[in-house]
Amino acid sequence: MALLTGFKKTRTAVFISGNGSNLKSLIKFSRKKISPISINLIISSNYKSKGLEYAKKYKIKKKIFNFKKRSISEKAILSELKKNNINLICLAGFMRILSKYFVKNYKGIILNIHPSLLPKYKGLNTHERVIKNKEIYSGCTVHYVNYKLDSGKIIIQKKVKIRQNDTPNSLSKRILNQEHKLYPKAILKIFNL
Ligand code: GRF
Repeated sequence: MALLTGFKKTRTAVFISGNGSNLKSLIKFSRKKISPISINLIISSNYKSKGLEYAKKYKIKKKIFNFKKRSISEKAILSELKKNNINLICLAGFMRILSKYFVKNYKGIILNIHPSLLPKYKGLNTHERVIKNKEIYSGCTVHYVNYKLDSGKIIIQKKVKIRQNDTPNSLSKRILNQEHKLYPKAILKIFNL
């Protein structure tokens, strides 16, 4: 489907599971004039997700799906997306893997942010693995979501130099700061702005 540009902002859902710092940066970005998107729905896989606070703070509709049975949750999400005319999904710290069924049946675009320089270090515990392997650089990537985990077409990346005394925690903080800038940049890029 074609993304809507011009006067109307593209209606977007952000999927979270945890802190939601990327959600916060996307909400702030979406409220700028230059932004081609509006955030109209927050989906969480976890009712304890700290990021759900932003739904209240910024008055955005939220829905929680526990994914105990993935196919049931996904069907319900698909109908929610349809009901809310959502044309873009931004996964932002969403800790569930969306099935092939979901990706095939959602007619909009799905993006994800991952804290490594893909295609290296797909999956979990990226910072631990990067440090253990004595890499010189890590970073973050925004990519399209396809049927395979962390494997869709790359939109944009930012490199971050690893310091000698870095721990997974210190590295993740520096990378997260970059993520907050990179996701909005990726969105501008896919809209050719
Ligand atoms: C980010 O590092 C993101 O790349 C990864 O999970 C983290 C989520 O952070 N997938 P937050 O919930 O946006 O603060």
